[in-house]
Amino acid sequence: MSDDRLATAVATCPIQSPGREYAAFEHEPMYEFFSRARPVAPIFHSEEIGYWVVTRRDDALNILRDHAHFSAEIATQPVQPWPRKILAYLQDRDFTNEAVQVACDPPRHTRIRQIAARFLNIRQFSLHEDQFRQLVTAYLDRIAGQSEADLVDAIFYEFPAQVVFLLLGETGFDPRKIKRWGDLRLNMIWGKPTTAELEAGARDLADFWDYTVNLVEARKKDPGDDYPSFLLARRAGDDSILTENEIRSLVFGLLLAGHETTTNAAGNITLELLRHPQQWRRLVADPSLIPNAVEEGLRYASSVVAWRRTAREDVVVAGQALPKGSKILIALASANRDEAHFDGPEAFDVQRGNARDHLSFGNGIHACLGAPLARLELRILVEELTRRFPNMNLLADQPIEWTRTISFRGPDKLWVRLHG
Ligand code: HEM
Repeated sequence: MSDDRLATAVATCPIQSPGREYAAFEHEPMYEFFSRARPVAPIFHSEEIGYWVVTRRDDALNILRDHAHFSAEIATQPVQPWPRKILAYLQDRDFTNEAVQVACDPPRHTRIRQIAARFLNIRQFSLHEDQFRQLVTAYLDRIAGQSEADLVDAIFYEFPAQVVFLLLGETGFDPRKIKRWGDLRLNMIWGKPTTAELEAGARDLADFWDYTVNLVEARKKDPGDDYPSFLLARRAGDDSILTENEIRSLVFGLLLAGHETTTNAAGNITLELLRHPQQWRRLVADPSLIPNAVEEGLRYASSVVAWRRTAREDVVVAGQALPKGSKILIALASANRDEAHFDGPEAFDVQRGNARDHLSFGNGIHACLGAPLARLELRILVEELTRRFPNMNLLADQPIEWTRTISFRGPDKLWVRLHG
């Protein structure tokens, strides 16, 4: 153990049994737990979820980059397997979503990502920058006359869904419906749903799929300059390029990946900026600091706190032998505060030199394709919030409720006093 790590381990309360103490679905104590676990336990087994949890940045990076030894297929599988009744219901409803991107391995992943990346890239995203800013401005106009607002409800919840609609060429559909479907999907896959929640969720999941199928059908009849139309044109009727069901699955994937993470990231970053008013004032005084503040927000309070892989063969991770098939949870939130890489990692510093080294967007062949879009959205949000409401502050004593899943973290509400 390095001197730094040892000093941290000694200075903080030693951890007896990280595997038992780790609360995979609880986000309030998470950072404090990892600050104690990381120095002494680079890997431990979580009894609650049956995963090996990796806590340090180097090990996390090695796993993310090594797709030969670690499979991504588990990435979107339910943490708690669904009962047969639910699977049968989904089959009856023609729910044929398949793993096409974040949860598939090469060579399939390579074929599909190469095509998707020709649309999901900074050049394409930047075409919409003015529209994104207009959307943000319109949302902020609506609350400007109020003294207080819940920013999640007022803007962070809907705005990223509206951005995805722009990419999909979708107009007139209720963003709250997509968000509600998305929330249910997160709970069903990454959460701890009750049987009643699973049954209701399965109905909604099938409705969500039907909506996606209809959207792709509509673009077949009337193509535009949007993502589904682009994919259909690339396919040009050739299943060896992309099948129609792969296209539906790609669109279905974007309808979750494209907004849930950004909604949470907007909440997390704004919360930390307002918890550190000096840093907020720095951005008000010098907006050129905002892009780095976004990176620091993603590092310090990531909206994706953990991501999954399985061992494709017997491997050794952080000195621990893991048999083939072992399930691994890469604690991105912990890696992002690894003292071996970040100086004073528990401090939130918008001018941190290496903030962008965070792993919140993953790494390797699956590195987030939407990262440039998320960065753009978050930059615009912080620019407009600091410009319109320079004296904004947090409403005191509000309990922060976090989403309850193993992977996604963000505040459900964020009450602020808009004009100080
Ligand atoms: C702050 C917001 C976001 C965060 C924290 C985030 C995080 C992630 C993470 C952790 C992965 C998995 C990486 C890996 O396995 O190594 C991922 C993959 C992905 N994300 Fe994001 N994401 C965000 C926003 C977005 C947006 C806005 C889009 C929409 C364009 C998007 C689309 C994707 C896609 C398509 C993949 C799959 C890439 C692949 O497997 O080849 N993400 N993201």
